Amino acid sequence: VIPATMEAATFSAPSPLWFASRGAGVVTLAVLTATVVLGIGTSLRWQGPRSPRFLTASLHRNLSLFAITLLAVHIVTSVLDPFAGIRPVDAAIPFLATYRPFWLGMGVLAAEALLAVAVTSLFRRRLGARGWRLIHWGAYAPWPPAVVHGLGTGTDVREPWLIGLTSACVVAVMLALAERLVMGRRRTAPVRMLAAGVTVAVLVVTCSWAARGPLRPGWAAAAGTPASILKGSFGASPDQWRSRSTGFVDALIGSMTATRDGAAISFRDAVDPALTLTILPPAPAQMAPVLSVARNGQQLCSSPAAVGTKIYAVCGATRLLIELRGSPARLTGTLTASGPLG
Ligand code: HEM
Repeated sequence: VIPATMEAATFSAPSPLWFASRGAGVVTLAVLTATVVLGIGTSLRWQGPRSPRFLTASLHRNLSLFAITLLAVHIVTSVLDPFAGIRPVDAAIPFLATYRPFWLGMGVLAAEALLAVAVTSLFRRRLGARGWRLIHWGAYAPWPPAVVHGLGTGTDVREPWLIGLTSACVVAVMLALAERLVMGRRRTAPVRMLAAGVTVAVLVVTCSWAARGPLRPGWAAAAGTPASILKGSFGASPDQWRSRSTGFVDALIGSMTATRDGAAISFRDAVDPALTLTILPPAPAQMAPVLSVARNGQQLCSSPAAVGTKIYAVCGATRLLIELRGSPARLTGTLTASGPLG
């Protein structure tokens, strides 16, 4: 069995763009949270002993623009990176993506709500103070789907630092909102009480969903991650290969023999007997076993193989997956090939 580092190197890993996208997503959430908190602070007329009231308001405005810029970086990098196959249309229309569609869709909804808040704010003068204030109630809208999107889509969701940061965001908004709902005129009390009830209900539902979903192992598959990504970016799942006219799935018959360097395996294809496969253990200077494919004794290709519970290798442009069964004396297996061999 090859060392884990070698196995990891055999599969394609996400590019730096993917990490940039996730990093930008996390910072966007933090800045969006600060924007919401300061927005509440503006309406509560917060001011410090040495910081005048207008500082809260202008910080709120500048942070909202910064959040939009960071969001643009987050979206552009996630579309440019090929890892999750996110298309521009997936970033514009919610729930279309093949990668974690519902949870990505929540991010798209959050982004569109944020854009709507920003655009209506540009027309603040024309809308008049009263009209704009009514519309600006919608400024709360982007934040909850953004939190749910981060939890539902995020690869790092179970990392303690991200659990801490998301919790801090939630606590900050809840505290500011609590102050906002407690303060107010008597005649708005019923509306404020209703808002408090809805907020508590949404908070309870979200926490229990997070505890039973994203924070548990196995969420990546449940969230709708394509099989090709779950299988270590090998390109496509065996089921997808089978459906391609050029690919095939054949039974293998073989045996295992002991050599000086370890076990060697040789197979013959039961459907196409001219095709033989051998897997030799790594020679002292090599790190990975080598898979060779031959037709009528003539070698077609030879490449390092990643050996785990299954064996992966690439022969020319064709990806091979070998599943082993049986005993060393009489091995059987299945060869799944993404395309033709020789
Ligand atoms: C206000 C809007 C948004 C916020 C605050 C936000 C925030 C986040 C956060 C916190 C993460 C988790 C990062 C991690 O786990 O490391 C994330 C992941 C992600 N977001 Fe967003 N996001 C928003 C909108 C969008 C939109 C519109 C798209 C559409 C392209 C998008 C695509 C992604 C992708 C592809 C991931 C990575 C998923 C993964 O790690 O597997 N986000 N986002």
